Amino acid sequence: MIDPADILSSSLSEHLFSAKRELIPDIDDYYELELAFYENQLLDDQSLIQNSAYFSRVGDQVTRHFQMCAGESLRLPAHSSSRLKSFFEKNIFRTGYATHGLFPYRGKFHPQMIKGIMNVMGLKPGDTVLDPMMGSGTVAVEASLMGINSFGFDSSPFCRFMSQAKLNALTMSLDRVRKAVDNIDEVFEYFKNHGRPISGRKSAKRPPLHYDNIIMEEPSEYLTGNQKLIKNFDQETAETYSFLLLAYLDAAGYSERSTRKSPIEQFRAILQRYVFVAEKIQTFLQKDDMILGQSQVSQGDARALSIGNASIDGVLFSPPYSFAIDYLDNDAFHLNYLGTDIAKLKESMVGLRGTSLREKFSLYHEDMQRVLAECSRVLKPGKFCTIIVGTNRNQIAKIQNKSPHEVEGLDEMLVRMGQEVGLSLIKIIQRSIVGMSNTMRREQIIFLQKA
Ligand SMILES: C[S@@+](CC[C@H](N)C(=O)[O-])C[C@H]1O[C@@H](n2cnc3c(N)ncnc32)[C@H](O)[C@@H]1O
Repeated sequence: MIDPADILSSSLSEHLFSAKRELIPDIDDYYELELAFYENQLLDDQSLIQNSAYFSRVGDQVTRHFQMCAGESLRLPAHSSSRLKSFFEKNIFRTGYATHGLFPYRGKFHPQMIKGIMNVMGLKPGDTVLDPMMGSGTVAVEASLMGINSFGFDSSPFCRFMSQAKLNALTMSLDRVRKAVDNIDEVFEYFKNHGRPISGRKSAKRPPLHYDNIIMEEPSEYLTGNQKLIKNFDQETAETYSFLLLAYLDAAGYSERSTRKSPIEQFRAILQRYVFVAEKIQTFLQKDDMILGQSQVSQGDARALSIGNASIDGVLFSPPYSFAIDYLDNDAFHLNYLGTDIAKLKESMVGLRGTSLREKFSLYHEDMQRVLAECSRVLKPGKFCTIIVGTNRNQIAKIQNKSPHEVEGLDEMLVRMGQEVGLSLIKIIQRSIVGMSNTMRREQIIFLQKA
């Protein structure tokens, strides 16, 4: 007869992991335990200390992930609601670390999960990972922190800009940014007058500004305090400028949606938060002896990648969920500010091409076939292509005039397309999505392997 007390007094993690390996606090989703289980199987003690996403300790050594995240995740103002405070506390190991929090991009990956997935894909320091639809650059930032090199592409110039700014913030000098905080009114006025923010109408068109030439010249005037235009900008000027501009766009975007704070107040709060976040990770990295991975982030089309055949050790990405999020509409303010021709950009955006829903879906299908063929082409044999995707059968059923159980979900569609180009299904991990506003309840982490 088994005594329930004997069973209850033992812990699940003791059964799953060796006694000296301790899980990160706050693991409460099944998929997290699953990824932790695979990390435990695949990583030796040293690799676990260096790069594990889900363990806090191996024997008496604290893992890098734990050290990177521990401490105050964000300096919230004293009057912040307890709801906000508990949100940040809860997500300290999941999202609230390094430079991941610098811009609230919709559809962004969970960085801790990305770390776990890269481990499960067998990626090691010195390897190269590709995210062909990088969005805000979560894979690039996370890979860099793990010593893994990366290539990132996105058709949106705003995504390239944002990803680069987040990568820079890991190492750039913050001296001039701190000076800008002291001169916040002047900096705010500068950006207000130099960009092309459009108030009121979200997607009004502006003539292109040739961002690389114009926007990068003007800041040097401000940042160097020199009225003469400087033609060759040093890296520090460019990095400082990008950091400030990202904070400005973040603040101005908020101000378009909410009037709770004045735009300048919003900018001040966001810039201070950015500086805090960058200082925190830089302090950690200066004491750490791991060499950061090299990242190259570019504007580019996932359907035709400028990357050689069989040259990549892993592909990891999340495609637009068919038409769940209109990324261009969401980013219209920022794209306009950068002088992007949105109508032209739309022609290369997966999920946005076409007019009727039916046509959009058929073009999405065609585009994703090309994306998967590219992923397979650039991967080395035996390596993994991992796709994170949610599906909404009701939406697809409506478009196809069928009932939800008759249609192929996006997850099934991608698995089938992968198989057609030599990527075979190894594993699907399910992850639930919380929050009322999401149209999807689940997302799938699909592990495909190149033959
Ligand atoms: C789900 S989001 C990726 C979010 C990203 N994983 C992150 O952590 O921020 C999908 C991205 O695909 C990009 N995209 C759409 N069409 C593309 C194309 N043809 N080539 C490259 N990127 C594209 C969108 O701009 C969007 O940023």
